[in-house]
Amino acid sequence: MTTSTGQDADNVAEKVGGLAQWLDERLNLQGALKFAEKKQVPMHKYSVWYYMGGIALMLMVIQFASGVLLMVYYIPGLEAAHASILRLNSQVDFGWFFRSIHSWGANLLIAVLGVHLFSAYFMKAYRKPREFTWYSGLVLMIIALGFGFTGYLLPWDDVSFFATKIGLDIASKMPFVGDQVAVLLRGGHSIGQATLSRFFVIHVALLPLLTIGLMGLHLLFVQLHGMSEPAYFQKLEAAKRTYEKFFPNFLLKDLLVWLLAFNGLAALVTLMPWGLGPEADPFGAAPLGIKPEWYFLAPFQFLKIVPAQIGPIEGELMGALLMILFCSGLVIVPFFDKGDSAEKAKTATYYGLVLLLAIVVFTVWGALS
Ligand code: HEM
Repeated sequence: MTTSTGQDADNVAEKVGGLAQWLDERLNLQGALKFAEKKQVPMHKYSVWYYMGGIALMLMVIQFASGVLLMVYYIPGLEAAHASILRLNSQVDFGWFFRSIHSWGANLLIAVLGVHLFSAYFMKAYRKPREFTWYSGLVLMIIALGFGFTGYLLPWDDVSFFATKIGLDIASKMPFVGDQVAVLLRGGHSIGQATLSRFFVIHVALLPLLTIGLMGLHLLFVQLHGMSEPAYFQKLEAAKRTYEKFFPNFLLKDLLVWLLAFNGLAALVTLMPWGLGPEADPFGAAPLGIKPEWYFLAPFQFLKIVPAQIGPIEGELMGALLMILFCSGLVIVPFFDKGDSAEKAKTATYYGLVLLLAIVVFTVWGALS
């Protein structure tokens, strides 16, 4: 005998089943499910690094969503920008909350991307057949830094104004094209309305479009090739190599990690809401000890210690050249360390360690000085 509650439950199950079938006939959900079920994730002592890309993805989605909400109130005009943020912070319901989510989220995203980049590097995930995954990732990292740089100016407070000035001065030191790039970004020789408009457009239109396209490609490449396996794991006999299903096992763990990361972000937002300095005064003096955001401190500090003149070449130009040369290892590494030479594998690892150490040391040095 079926009770009326039992009948209700049966009806609901029938309807859900009907809806699932309706969707499946149109969207081939079974096919997607079969693909997800086939996907395997290697289980080994470095598996924890496989979560980093997923955290970056979650943070990127949060950045898009909170950014759209901020755009509802933000006005990209010299007279109005600072006041619009002030209004968001103090008068709009939850305005301070979404602004803090966006600002703290940007910092977390760049930190997580740094970890994702170096963990993929040390796991040698740049090797064949993942070169395109690696290169799309490198461009995404540059884009994330571009988001940080352009977004920082938008509130138009004194720190953001002068930090942008320093950043553009550094950009102008880039060899050969530096001056032209800086003039193009500024919209002239000084920071003003043209700069604010350009940064706004780059921040809310250009970079998001590039990000969506590249992130789509990056994730497609990850699906095509599956997760890379560290060399020691590949050498294990088949019985000792264990895998878990991506769906539902790994995905559920992914969701848990996202929840933890989101809680970390929520804690930062509520305990340390993002501040706003006084409105920028382009003719005023720069605040004492002004520095760029932490993720630009390494090049900033490095250029500070380079002598003014090195032989016939201007010191800062030489410094910029040296930094570009040093970082270009990240671009050539897939073709240098192809997995066929233990010597080259070791050299690539040492290079990665020196680069990471240099970034950490110069960042901490820049923060403390
Ligand atoms: C918005 C930025 C990015 C997003 C959303 C993203 C997302 C992901 C996701 C979800 C995965 C699969 C899981 C994982 O390995 O963590 C992945 C893998 C990968 N990512 Fe990214 N990523 C981004 C930026 C980068 C950067 C900056 C690099 C480095 C240059 C990079 C290089 C790679 C590589 C090589 C893999 C394959 C890892 C493997 O097979 O072991 N990604 N990415």
